[in-house]
Amino acid sequence: VKFLTAAAAARHVAKEIDKLIRARNAAGKHTVLGLATGSTPVSLYRELIRLHREEGLDFSRVVTFNLDEYYPMPKESQHSYFRWMHETLFSHINVKWENIHIPDGALKPDEVDAACEEYDEKIRSFGGIDIQVLGIGRTGHIAFNEPGSPQNSRTRLVTLDSITRRDAADGFSGEKNVPHHALTMGVASILEARRIFLMAFGEHKASIVYKAVEQAPTEAISASFLQEHRDATFVLDEAAAAEL
Ligand code: GLP
Repeated sequence: VKFLTAAAAARHVAKEIDKLIRARNAAGKHTVLGLATGSTPVSLYRELIRLHREEGLDFSRVVTFNLDEYYPMPKESQHSYFRWMHETLFSHINVKWENIHIPDGALKPDEVDAACEEYDEKIRSFGGIDIQVLGIGRTGHIAFNEPGSPQNSRTRLVTLDSITRRDAADGFSGEKNVPHHALTMGVASILEARRIFLMAFGEHKASIVYKAVEQAPTEAISASFLQEHRDATFVLDEAAAAEL
């Protein structure tokens, strides 16, 4: 799928989420959304907030799982994805606090493995993710699954690639302040979602989008494993689709 503008792409994904939530609400059932951070999904979240405010979209039965969090990272830090998600989306819609799940950057080192396992179990306990929203990093990562992440990887502690840390430097006022590690859902945890939308906008994403879509699936580019998913869509603007 190609769209001329990022705004139209965001509206398209928002519409799909809107349809599913309304259908589930009508049946008295919950909707499980997998959510991403970064600049890419901001326009989508803005559109979801608009649908909530102006068109009565009810998030009270929505359950969310975020992809990742820096580690270590206190929730209240200005750099945490926890804080970013609340400021960008959660505090503007009627999602219930207890239905929000984000990997906990404040875990003690000896708690990490068990908590990661629990995260995957929690997703399963809600019946799995209905719609997963993804961005893509310049290393080809989905969530923080850097080059070398196996297709069967689960939620875990990872080391960030130097390109990823460089790309995050602005937000941290300098690369030296960017954490070296993160907690991330694994490739397998992500691929278990029933429907996936990977969004990418801008010419700086064109070459990695080309590799993820047109080259053979490889651990070197975790987004390339989406080719093996039954219902994964790349939602792109013209610039990001330029090399396809
Ligand atoms: C971070 C996030 C990814 C995101 C990527 C791209 O690394 N962990 O989930 O896809 O950034 O960010 P942006 O959308 O700002 O280009």
